[in-house]
This record gives sequence, structure tokens and C-alpha cells, in this order.
Amino acid sequence: MILANLLSMNNLENQTIMTLLERAEKFRQGEKAPIDGTVVNLFFEPSTRTKMSFEMAENKMGLAVLPFETAFSSILKGETLYDTVRTMEAIGVDAVIIRHEEEEYYQQLEGCKVAVINGGDGSGQHPTQSLLDLLTIYQEFGRVEGIHVTIVGDIAHSRVAKSNAAALKQLGAEVTFICPEEWSGEYDSSEHLDDFIEKTDVVMMLRVQHERHAVSAMFSKENYHEQYGLTIEREKRMKEGAIIMHPAPINRGVEIADCLVECERSRIFKQMANGVFVRMAVLEYALKGRD
Ligand code: NCD
Repeated sequence: MILANLLSMNNLENQTIMTLLERAEKFRQGEKAPIDGTVVNLFFEPSTRTKMSFEMAENKMGLAVLPFETAFSSILKGETLYDTVRTMEAIGVDAVIIRHEEEEYYQQLEGCKVAVINGGDGSGQHPTQSLLDLLTIYQEFGRVEGIHVTIVGDIAHSRVAKSNAAALKQLGAEVTFICPEEWSGEYDSSEHLDDFIEKTDVVMMLRVQHERHAVSAMFSKENYHEQYGLTIEREKRMKEGAIIMHPAPINRGVEIADCLVECERSRIFKQMANGVFVRMAVLEYALKGRD
């Protein structure tokens, strides 16, 4: 049996995305996942939600999880990622979940037989985040097609923006990017959130990725909030039924006003809850294999 990888949203067919979302929804409704396997979470970058929700998903599925602390591993002796993953494979691990600062780190792992689930690669992709975002949108609107999603913030350095841009467009959503011009990356963007706030169904706010680029000394939290943030005033102009999303961690008062984090429209904590069920679906997909 060949185990299935989940590396990027760029090469996932709509049919696969929909199957994963349907499975996640079943798990949310309490369905059990009868699947065996041993997995390891290899997190080389900080994580709260992704790591903990993978652990919760693994727990709920009754998978064996071998603890691995990058800070106490032979990585510190210079061992490569490839040799680390091959070691996991040799001792009988079925799937590894990896978060790494290097974009497309998974290219080095070609030839490894263990399933690789990408928990975030630098400014590249974050497929499980995108899937949980899609699930949240489906639950809200019953569809993705025709939904207007406005993604606001550090687009160029955000793996969340990139994974969602690919998947949302492929599923027929209308996507608008709002950011300072120098952070637009490969996307056409606008600097004017005010032009879109009244028409959008989903406002997806992003954290400024300070760890991935040198933010100018001129960066001011107050100015950023004023120009690109979801302010109290802007929330009031959002249309009826429109929702607020954010992958978190949140800088309260920078990309979003403190009091909006848990307001009526916010689905931020729902996104986190959905993360567990989506990760169960992805683990099942990886471990069940392709044949
Ligand atoms: C995001 C990430 O790590 O890419 N967080 C997450 O997984 N929920 C977003 C971020 O760090 O800004």
C-alpha cells in the first residue's frame, strides 16, 4: 500500500477536497475513525493550534503517537531532515506531520515511504489550515462557489493566504487581496479594505509574519490597524451574515480590534475546533493510502 501525502493545496483536486471536508464533518458529528497507525509530529517551528489539534485528532483516533522534541533530537548534531524522516520510517512510523521554516522542505523527502503531512512550510503552504477554513465557510454558507472572501494582511509571507488562494479560487470563490503593496507577492491586490468591506462575505485577517521578513522600522501598530485592520467601525459596515476569520495567533489591536475577536461574526474559535476534525480526516486519508 502507498500512503498518501498532503503537501500543498495546489495539486489537490476538488473531489479530494470535498471528500476530506465531508469526512471532517462526519467526525465532527461523532463518527469514529477505525484506523491503525503510528505517527510522529515533527515541529521545527513554534505552533500552538496546529500541533495541539493534530495531537487531539491523533488521540481521538486512537493512533500511537511517538513523542519527538526537535530541541532534544539529533537534529542538534546536524542530522538532516531526510535522515530524520528515514529513521522514523525504519523504526516503523507510518506518517509524519512536519512543520518547517524552509519552503518546500518536502522536496528533500522524495523517496521516503512514510506519509508526509505538511503542517506548514515557511511562507509556502499550510494545507490543513486551508481545509479547516474551507470547512468553516461551508458550514456557514453551504457552499464556497460565489462566496466573496477578502484576505487581508501579509499576503506575500503567509502560507495561509497562499493555500487558501489556491483552494478558494479552484472551488469558485471570488477572492480579493488587501495589503500594503510590498506584501502582495504574486497576487493582484488593493490597499483599500474600505472598498470591499461592505460586499464581502468573509473577511480573513492575517498576522504580520515578523519572523519571515524584516518589517520596516517605520511599522506602527496603530497605523497598520488604522489602514489595514478590522476596526470597530469597519465591522459595523460588514453585510448581514458576513463572518470574520483569522488563523491565529492574533495580535489583538493590530490586525483586528480586541473586542471583535469574540464578537458575533467571529468564527475564529470555531476554526480552531474544526481544525481537529479536518486533521482527523487528513490522517485517515494519509494512513488509508491510495490503493
Ligand atoms: C498560522 C501559521 O502558522 O501559518 N497559524 C496557524 O497554523 N494557525 C498563521 C500564523 O502564524 O500567522
